[in-house]
Amino acid sequence: MASNSSEWAAGFSSFATDAIHVGQEPEQWNSMAVVPPISLSTTFKQYGPGKHAGFEYSRSGNPTRRCLERAVAALDGAKHCVALASGLAATVTVTHMLKSGDGIVCMNDVYGGTNRYFQRIAAEIGYDISFADCTKTEVLKATLKSNTKMLWIETPSNPTMKVVDIQACSDIAHEYSKDIIVVVDNTFMSAYFQRPLALGADICMYSATKYMNGHSDVVMGLISVNREDLYERLKFLQNALGAVPSPFDCYMCNRGLKTLHLRMKQHFKNAMAVAQFLEADPRVDKVIFPGLPSHPQHELMKKQCTGCPGMITFYIKGKLENATAFLSNLKLFALAESLGGYESLAEHPAIMTHASVPEKERKELGISDTLIRLSVGLEDEEDIIADLNQALGAAQEKN
Ligand SMILES: Cc1ncc(COP(=O)(O)O)c(C=O)c1O
Repeated sequence: MASNSSEWAAGFSSFATDAIHVGQEPEQWNSMAVVPPISLSTTFKQYGPGKHAGFEYSRSGNPTRRCLERAVAALDGAKHCVALASGLAATVTVTHMLKSGDGIVCMNDVYGGTNRYFQRIAAEIGYDISFADCTKTEVLKATLKSNTKMLWIETPSNPTMKVVDIQACSDIAHEYSKDIIVVVDNTFMSAYFQRPLALGADICMYSATKYMNGHSDVVMGLISVNREDLYERLKFLQNALGAVPSPFDCYMCNRGLKTLHLRMKQHFKNAMAVAQFLEADPRVDKVIFPGLPSHPQHELMKKQCTGCPGMITFYIKGKLENATAFLSNLKLFALAESLGGYESLAEHPAIMTHASVPEKERKELGISDTLIRLSVGLEDEEDIIADLNQALGAAQEKN
């Protein structure tokens, strides 16, 4: 049974209006352009030394980037946003707020690249990294240490879709020490379905490469904050580390935001239909979709989110051969990494996105050979399901 949409947390007021208008005012340009221009100039003329019109050099600030940052801040219910060159550049920039020796507690099931950065780079340069299953508050409490300065949460987690209670974890971290910065990777949800800052987090970050841009044609990261001290530090690091996005990419992502609300509603509708189809299919062992009542944290999901994105993971019956036959026989879905675009994608986390997670950890997390991750796109529902149906048929021939 589809969940009744009224059971979910209330949507954010004026979301679409803000996406379309905040930061886009024609009056900011001499030309009164309704669509923000792509401002390619790397440098900006000053009236006198140190006296400028708000921009000096394009790494420290750019007019097109500014339009995007203002729109994203509004959508996150935040005061500020900084845009970076990729999601991982955002992760690295946030981590640079800490100093060597500081502790970071990270949800144990996160994007493979985040895991790789923390374990293979941040740990090597002296950050004290611990992983914890943050779905269990007692595990989180036991993992916090006197040197902990940051808690990193991804919810729903990637790829096993565990849902973390953002408010509960933020409260635990902040009660333990007010110096702990709580970061939520909101990539899977987008600003449309989840507002981490309203749930107690200090930082909301995205790989905007996914839903926020939504068209699989830009690599970008975004960080939203309310606290002025964090904004000042992040703004400094954005310029000092220099991992900034191009004005063209800012233009594209800003344009993608204009239809975020429409896209996310349709992703939810299509994903719900796919999840129900897979759950009823005898060729499938188990479906993990937080929008289904069968998901162990469905109630928490409905409490902290306004809906669900198009991300579904499922275990196909059989073994690796069945999973690879399924993936190789898909026609509408592209077998490809990434997610959150208008097109449907499928992938094999153990071989693809999460190959960098050590095998032992993959096993513990349930990232097995038969686990498949879908990013359900915006095509017609019947065509999406027909493609999955025929690929499941081809996979069974391997038995
Ligand atoms: C949840 C999540 N966070 C962060 C990233 C890293 O983002 P990017 O690829 O834009 O560097 C990804 C990329 O897949 C992701 O899925």
